[in-house]
Amino acid sequence: MLTGHGGNYHYWASVLGCPPDEIIDMSSNVNPLGPMDGLVERLRNRMETIGALPEADASGVIRRFGRRYGIDPARVLVGNGTTQFIYALPGILDCRNVLIFGPTYSDYADAFRLGGAALVHRLATPEADFCHALDDLDAEERDCDTVVICNPNNPTGNLIPRDALENFCRRNDRRTIVVDESYLPFSDAEETGTLLGSDLPNVIVLHSLSKIFRIPGLRIGFAISANPQLIRRFRQAQQPWCVNALAQEAACFLLDPQCPTDAFIAETRRFFEAEKRAMVEILSKEAGLRVFPSATSFLLVRLPAGLSASSVVEETVRTHRILLRDCSNFHGLDSRFLRVSLKTSEANRLVAQWLCRLARGIGKRGGWERFDFTGVSSAP
Ligand SMILES: Cc1ncc(COP(=O)(O)O)c(C=O)c1O
Repeated sequence: MLTGHGGNYHYWASVLGCPPDEIIDMSSNVNPLGPMDGLVERLRNRMETIGALPEADASGVIRRFGRRYGIDPARVLVGNGTTQFIYALPGILDCRNVLIFGPTYSDYADAFRLGGAALVHRLATPEADFCHALDDLDAEERDCDTVVICNPNNPTGNLIPRDALENFCRRNDRRTIVVDESYLPFSDAEETGTLLGSDLPNVIVLHSLSKIFRIPGLRIGFAISANPQLIRRFRQAQQPWCVNALAQEAACFLLDPQCPTDAFIAETRRFFEAEKRAMVEILSKEAGLRVFPSATSFLLVRLPAGLSASSVVEETVRTHRILLRDCSNFHGLDSRFLRVSLKTSEANRLVAQWLCRLARGIGKRGGWERFDFTGVSSAP
């Protein structure tokens, strides 16, 4: 954890002298509709499982995952969040040069740098709405043995259609392609867009339960590949019991065919579609902010020149106890990028109106460049 994450509400609670749960955390990308009904109760009823060792390789979880997605369980590994696999990748792949499609989640750069690999960044631009052209690699990129693509991407929300991604993987069949699908369940494109069941031997898919089910504290993530050698190497590197007893209970509950998981995901997608539509309307039309198209649960917003995301984050948390994500530490973004992870309609609207209010205040003050927060009313 070298470059930092969102979700730092403990820090702000100590600064503001309030309990952490008084801060609405819109900096972390978990589903506000979760955890699913019945999950917490199930864990409460199964607390005694902490008195015994869980399955060392969590094979019960793997079997259920395989059944749910129609994948041979021999292709699947489960770990302590996808983070465990991200940090295992450099050792498993023994890579020298890694191409990262950015701007993206910084743990990939951190993990590969720690593993001694050299990094090449292919950066999508705001002008292209952060879409990547999956064209041929240039000379520097061709030296890379490994490619990382988050689909959809964090923090841009951009989704690469399956055909384009699959073609890219086929054209680059001598490179290992890591496809991180942590946010794909938020999109209707999941069923047609996922590479989970793909037979491509050079692809590793990472799949997280943290975001969609709002269980980041349990730490459950999967690595899937059609390449038995890759799976074997991952397995050899894995520690026993890396998925604890309560996490295994939760995964079995969520992956059980009797659990209304599909209905929950469908409801989640409907909720975010409606929320995103409303937020884009306010933020772009009323506040005049640039909002980038997102296939997932968060929106990347570009503030006008002269206004920094760090100052907006600070003023928002101080004024409303709502924490947004300053994206200036994402390689390829600058101090004007802010990520809003959508939560309840009420919190979303409050943020949208507050940003509008700031925008109007700026108008009166003669431009964002000279914006001074003093005296901006905290009322929505
Ligand atoms: C793109 C991406 N991949 C992986 C992770 C890590 O998720 P997990 O909780 O499964 O370790 C995150 C967390 O923010 C993320 O944004």
